[in-house]
Amino acid sequence: MSVQIAPSILSADFAALGAAVAAAERGGADLIHVDVMDGHFVPNITIGVPVVTSLRRIARVPLDVHLMIEDPDRYIDAFAEAGAAMISVHVEALRHLHRTIQAIKRLGVKAGVAINPATPIVMLDEVAADLDYVVVMSVNPGFGGQTFIPRSESKVREVRALLDRAGNAAPVEIDGGVDQSNVAQVVSAGARIIVAGSAVFNTPDPERAVRELKAAAIAAAAAPVTR
Ligand code: DX5
Ligand code: ZN
Repeated sequence: MSVQIAPSILSADFAALGAAVAAAERGGADLIHVDVMDGHFVPNITIGVPVVTSLRRIARVPLDVHLMIEDPDRYIDAFAEAGAAMISVHVEALRHLHRTIQAIKRLGVKAGVAINPATPIVMLDEVAADLDYVVVMSVNPGFGGQTFIPRSESKVREVRALLDRAGNAAPVEIDGGVDQSNVAQVVSAGARIIVAGSAVFNTPDPERAVRELKAAAIAAAAAPVTR
C-alpha cells in the first residue's frame, strides 16, 4: 500500500461538515477520520453515531472511525451499521481486546487498535497478527491542534517491526500533530495512514493542505529507507 491521507474532521466547522469532507476529497483524501469522544475516556465530547450515518451519505471515501470512549464494545455494532469502514478502539479502554477485535471483524469492518503515548507497544504483542491497522497516538487524545510528541516517530518504527515479526503487513496509522513539517519523517518511520486535523482544516484552503500533505507523504514513501 502506498500512503493514505485521512483528514480528521475534528478541526472542521461542524455546521458545514459536508463542505469540509468535499474539500478534503478534492484535495485527494483517501479516508475521512472521525474522532468519537465521550467525555470519560478523554475529557472532550464530540461526534456520535448519527453524524457518522450522515457523513456516510455524503462521503465518497471510506470512514475511519476512532473511538476514544469507555466500553467501546457497546457501540461497535451501531458504528458499523452507520457505515464505518474502519473502527479503532483504544487498548487502554479494553479488558478483552482480542474479543473486541474479532467482534469488529465479524461485522465486516477493519479493526484497528490505538495506543496512547504512555502505553508500551508490548500491549499489542498478543494481537499483532489479528489487526488490520495500528493507530500510534502522537498526542494525548482528546483535542485537535496539539503538538506532535517526538518519541512517536520511533514508536512508529517499533510498531512496524512488531507487525512485521507477526507476519502482518497491516499499516501503521499516525494520529496527532502531523503537519507539513513532520509528515515526511513519520512516513519514513513507516506510517502509511496519516491523520491530520488542524493542519488541514485550520488553514484557509483545506483542499490545498490535503494535496500538499499527500505529495510530501508520497515522496517520503518512495524515498529509499534510511534506518
Ligand atoms: C486527537 C484525535 C486526532 C486529532 C488530530 O485526540 O484523535 O485525530 O483530531 O488533530 P491534529 O492533526 O490537529 O492533531
Ligand atoms: Zn483520531
